Amino acid sequence: MPLPTSTSTKRSKSASWPVEEARRLTGNDDADGPRALLVGCRVRSEDRDIVAESLTELARLVDTAGAIEVGCVKCEVKRPVPATFVGRGAIDRIAKQLAELDVPVRCVVFDVDLTATQQRNLESRLEVMVIDRTGIILDIFAKRAQTREGKLQVELAQYQYLLPRLRGLWTHLSRQGAGIGTRGPGETDLEIDRRRIRQRIAGLKKKLEKVRMTRELHRSERRKSQVQTVALVGYTNAGKSTLLNACTDADVLIEDRLFATLDPTAREIALPGNVKAVMVDTVGFIQRLPHQLVESFKATLEEVTLADLIVHVVDASHPRMEQQVGAVAEVLHEIGATDQAMVYVFNKADLVIQKPWLDRLVAAHQPAVAVSARDGSNLDDFRNQLALTLGRHRRRAVFRVPLARPDVLHILRTRAEVIADDIDGQHVVLTLRIGERLAGRWREFRIEENGS
Ligand code: GTP
Repeated sequence: MPLPTSTSTKRSKSASWPVEEARRLTGNDDADGPRALLVGCRVRSEDRDIVAESLTELARLVDTAGAIEVGCVKCEVKRPVPATFVGRGAIDRIAKQLAELDVPVRCVVFDVDLTATQQRNLESRLEVMVIDRTGIILDIFAKRAQTREGKLQVELAQYQYLLPRLRGLWTHLSRQGAGIGTRGPGETDLEIDRRRIRQRIAGLKKKLEKVRMTRELHRSERRKSQVQTVALVGYTNAGKSTLLNACTDADVLIEDRLFATLDPTAREIALPGNVKAVMVDTVGFIQRLPHQLVESFKATLEEVTLADLIVHVVDASHPRMEQQVGAVAEVLHEIGATDQAMVYVFNKADLVIQKPWLDRLVAAHQPAVAVSARDGSNLDDFRNQLALTLGRHRRRAVFRVPLARPDVLHILRTRAEVIADDIDGQHVVLTLRIGERLAGRWREFRIEENGS
């Protein structure tokens, strides 16, 4: 995402995105990706295991972003230091580690969210680019967005992140001999840049509103055709895309990387009892999903809030499974998806050795199923569970349709669950389990069970 540059400055394209920028600063000397030193920071009140897991996750994020981890420094603070987040001792340890490494390190990635001031101060002290957790996540999103909608949403989140960080953004680093001729903007240029970014943000919001309206149109078409929507949600890497591919003929990118799916994919799924639904894959959730992203991805996440059913895919083999379930619940709450029915899918059952534990998990989260999306085991149970939950809105009803109306017969036979299908002279008598809306649309053919 090139920053809109002001006309009054000769500064060429200034800031691009952190890892991208690190690559530029790197020149050609580490072609396989910029080297990164990771810093885990635990505020003393925080749980040790949670912080450790977050750091493991950061390593995966850094890898997904295309940088190479060369080491890790762990520090603790009683409470965050306003100027630098970590204390002087920790900064000295990070600096020492940087000096001792025999490869040039291009960026230090902190596993916390830093304020613009903290980031700038740390960069001055460490003389290397500093990236925070949100910066890395936005970087990955920027690389992965494929569709126009995804790209617009990421761009909006990036600008919102960038706006308070504009002053001196990484430019002091390029002056330190990294061979890139960028120059820090003067105050006036800064103001112009800020104004341009604000204009760009307003423009992006307008475009995204149009996207949202188009989505609403598609949804109302789905509603008209009685097709129910199932939204897949889950922590990143839980196996949502694998499940979608296994249940439908979707061809969604599957990678053992975080945030492989950014753009929602909608596919039709046929369920037992003629229940048809559209299944929508959504962006993976993560602990502390940057709020800029939640806000920017509103159009996508609306698919979740407006779905008839939410399927929460959980990686049952993950050591921090419960924490991940909690993080997803938090995001669902944040976007207001709290009223719908939810089915839990405990995925990667093939990797779980303790089967009784898995059974207990399923029993504790009803309605729930344990599956392996990869080897296809128990997917029939999953489909049955979906049909059952979606079908709960359905009632038994009898329709008497003239043979001369094959159109109506076709709709009722394919969209409702057929219990009995009998001929009565020039009519067909269908006993169905049918959704209220569909039944209402064809009420002229509806009769009582006894035929009146
Ligand atoms: P994001 O796009 O990050 O949200 O990921 P996702 O939830 O869509 O996960 P995806 O389907 O891309 O799968 C992530 C990784 O888990 C891939 O390497 C899959 O092959 C693997 N995986 C998915 N389901 C299973 C499973 O049932 N068993 C095993 N062993 N691996 C699985």
